[in-house]
Amino acid sequence: VNLVVSSEYGNKTSPIMYGLMFEDINHSGDGGLYAELIRNRAFQGSGNTTNPTLAAYRAVGDAVISIDTTNPLSPALKNVMKVTPISSDATQVGFLNEGFWGINVKDQEYTGSFYVKGQYNGAFIVSLKSNLTSKVYAQKKVRSASKPDVWTKHEFVLHPEAAPNVNNTLQITFNANGSEEGLWFSMISLFPPTYHGRKNGLRKDLAENLEKFKPTFLRFPGGNNLQGDEPPYHWKWNETIGPLIDRPGRPGTWGYENTDGLGLVEYMEWCDDMNLEPILDVWAGYYLSGPTIPQEELEFYIQDVLNELEFLMGSIDTPYGSLRAQLGHPKPWVINYVEVGNEDDVGGGASYSAYRFPMFRDAIKVAYPHMTIIGSTPKIDPIPDGAWLDYHRYTRPDDFVSLFGMFDNWNRSHPVFVGEYAYIQPNKPGGGGPEWGGAWRSPYTTLIGMISEAVFAIGMERNADLVRAAAYAPILQNLNSYQWSPDLISFTADPEETALSISYYLQKLFSTHHGTTVLPVTSDVKFGPLYWSASSTDDGGYYLKIANYNGTTTTVTFEVPDDNVIKGKLTTLSAPSPFSENSPKNETSIWTEKDVIKGADGKFAFDLPDLTVAVLAVK
Ligand code: AHR
Repeated sequence: VNLVVSSEYGNKTSPIMYGLMFEDINHSGDGGLYAELIRNRAFQGSGNTTNPTLAAYRAVGDAVISIDTTNPLSPALKNVMKVTPISSDATQVGFLNEGFWGINVKDQEYTGSFYVKGQYNGAFIVSLKSNLTSKVYAQKKVRSASKPDVWTKHEFVLHPEAAPNVNNTLQITFNANGSEEGLWFSMISLFPPTYHGRKNGLRKDLAENLEKFKPTFLRFPGGNNLQGDEPPYHWKWNETIGPLIDRPGRPGTWGYENTDGLGLVEYMEWCDDMNLEPILDVWAGYYLSGPTIPQEELEFYIQDVLNELEFLMGSIDTPYGSLRAQLGHPKPWVINYVEVGNEDDVGGGASYSAYRFPMFRDAIKVAYPHMTIIGSTPKIDPIPDGAWLDYHRYTRPDDFVSLFGMFDNWNRSHPVFVGEYAYIQPNKPGGGGPEWGGAWRSPYTTLIGMISEAVFAIGMERNADLVRAAAYAPILQNLNSYQWSPDLISFTADPEETALSISYYLQKLFSTHHGTTVLPVTSDVKFGPLYWSASSTDDGGYYLKIANYNGTTTTVTFEVPDDNVIKGKLTTLSAPSPFSENSPKNETSIWTEKDVIKGADGKFAFDLPDLTVAVLAVK
């Protein structure tokens, strides 16, 4: 296959082409990227209800633990845990927490805190312990003069020796003497060092893995988790800010309670620290299994979005801008993109086009004319002027490949944001798209799935004038409790078990080789089984991206319109067989890099095996 790049008629690429879509799904937030190590820290609910449980806790010593709903820690956090000693002379009674299916105990500093109510004059013993043996990795005495009628915050720092595995607990105990009545506890919290050292920040290793593939934007907070299942549980920005004891949390859409410790400010700090363009998703008034807010009641929710934007962008002289300053961020953030709702062709239907999207868009545009407003579906009629429209696709490999040319023929009257896409199932005989109900899903993304994503992504890149941003979804999966597979990164409490999927490496390959102008390419064959696109860079180089989907090993030659370009580097991504996958401690994907020198005929040449994606970077 001979590919010749033209120096004319290119399209400028988008500076935010490869990015992140994040919502709390698969314990991607609580128990994932949010670095809090204590599960159920404030008894905010269970499953997707607000009913509290003692999940992750056990009594220690001669004590009984129970939920109490009559002694709220704060108006937001109504449920607390009571620890009642069985006898007045019991020593070292209390509780332990098993963390999010383990606690990673390393030779580093952990900062913790907990609130206590009840009469106690003594010390709490706080320990990081093995869950299997009596081994204690760190222990501290925390002095207390807790009183019956007020909640007292206790703080501590632990510096343990490293534990050999993550089957560990945080244990807090006290002597019954003088506190026979029992003590009440809530907001039991423990953080390891975080990404960029932020208080209440992100789990370092997971954030660093995301950072490594060089994403350029963050779409948040959903996804379905923005929407909520039923009233009043859509994501509410103002309930995710400020002190943790003022954040009520909510039953998330994905079957577990969200603490909202990872809230709006933390999302913005994540954007700051990873240099990501925020794409803020706002609620459009559709609950997933509940009612739809009617037109005459929308004004309240639109005003709420304007309040949120004032909080993020307003000067400190505005009411919400001043609130942001009080929370430690006097400098306004900049929001350039707002998406209205999520997949509203699915839930919203006709009302989205008819008045919902226009009402939100018009109000935001009046206040912030610079903003790009994104519709959550391409099925908007009439197509709104200047808006981007969000297209999602989860499917099978053959289907992705069949969509290679889709954007070539797309209506050019609006830019496209591919806000979510991923391979989810193997091909079925006869081809076609996914079967949702009860269909078999891949646990991890596979080689053939990744190649099909590459073909689809190359199709997007060729249409740089149209497709302005794209994100694989979902990005994170806690292997101990998840609702959706496959995902970009799978993990447990143990960083040694993190699996970077084959699709992760594809995102990395494409994101780190993103040209500034996509150029036309002429060839001596049609697309299929090879699919390609080429771009130039600002420093005089060129990239060829090419995938081989169910072909044979093929020699590819590549010519660029510049005699001074003589050196190249070929990076390939593949794996041993079509269903190879990367799972914990078993990375099968193969990433290779080698130099390619221009031949005497003026061409760069290399062999591209089947089920391989490659980037040739020449300069
Ligand atoms: O990414 C998982 C889910 O898929 C998202 O929450 C939703 O937008 C889509 O249907």
